[in-house]
Amino acid sequence: MAPSHDDKAVSEVRDGSAAKRPISNILFVIAMQTEASPLVEKFQLTEQPDSVFPEGVSWVRYSGKYNDLNIDIVCPGKDKTLGVDCVGTVSAALLTYASIQALRPDLIINAGTAGGFKAKGASIGDVFLVSDVAFHDRRIPIPVFDLYGVGAREMYSTPNLAKELSLKVCKLSTGDSLDMTPEDEASILANNATVKDMEGAAVAYVADLFKVPAILLKAVTDLIDGEKPTAEEFLQNLASVTSALDQTTTQVVDFISGKCCADL
Ligand code: ADE
Repeated sequence: MAPSHDDKAVSEVRDGSAAKRPISNILFVIAMQTEASPLVEKFQLTEQPDSVFPEGVSWVRYSGKYNDLNIDIVCPGKDKTLGVDCVGTVSAALLTYASIQALRPDLIINAGTAGGFKAKGASIGDVFLVSDVAFHDRRIPIPVFDLYGVGAREMYSTPNLAKELSLKVCKLSTGDSLDMTPEDEASILANNATVKDMEGAAVAYVADLFKVPAILLKAVTDLIDGEKPTAEEFLQNLASVTSALDQTTTQVVDFISGKCCADL
């Protein structure tokens, strides 16, 4: 029997040949429309009305060609009842899963905003390349389940990318709240994270399930250990910081163009 598309993809990951093929399909997973729109414009992508997704979901897909790359940007879209972006880990994981199945990306990029720790050197507008992820709100105080809850994992190593673009590199901690309880804070510090978001570790988990290399880029909108209330600072800086994220993301895509994952 001829190997199925899935069998072939898995064996290419195992024997390392996938990492040595030029990257042609990049999938961006972006939680908020405000974060996605500048990149949709930059790469001149168009919204795809014939969805590759199940009927009825709010998920949105933009696609097109930029240089030699096929680029898809997927967003979870707006909550059907409340009209706000479907942020958080549940939507991010579902969307990443469905997009991998439908689009078979060579590389995933999760680009978005994050809160940063001033004490760890983060400033508003910094854009970080994430080296490691973990969760900070999955507390399961039973041996081994505790480690499963934290779900720490290393991201795909991209030393050349980091060096060439002089990117700041840090660890990310993910949870489903914008604010931070004292328990979350202790966990984020235990995770040694400089930035905190609401999707990254979920996207990384799904990418890892299917062995798709993933890169996380996080731009700091608010300082978690600063003086201002988080929600206020986040909303105040969202537009300007998104444009910093847009610039770095474009540089990253330009760097990736013509390369294999193994070259990153
Ligand atoms: N995204 C932007 N700021 C954030 C924060 N403080 N926590 C989680 N996600 C964020």
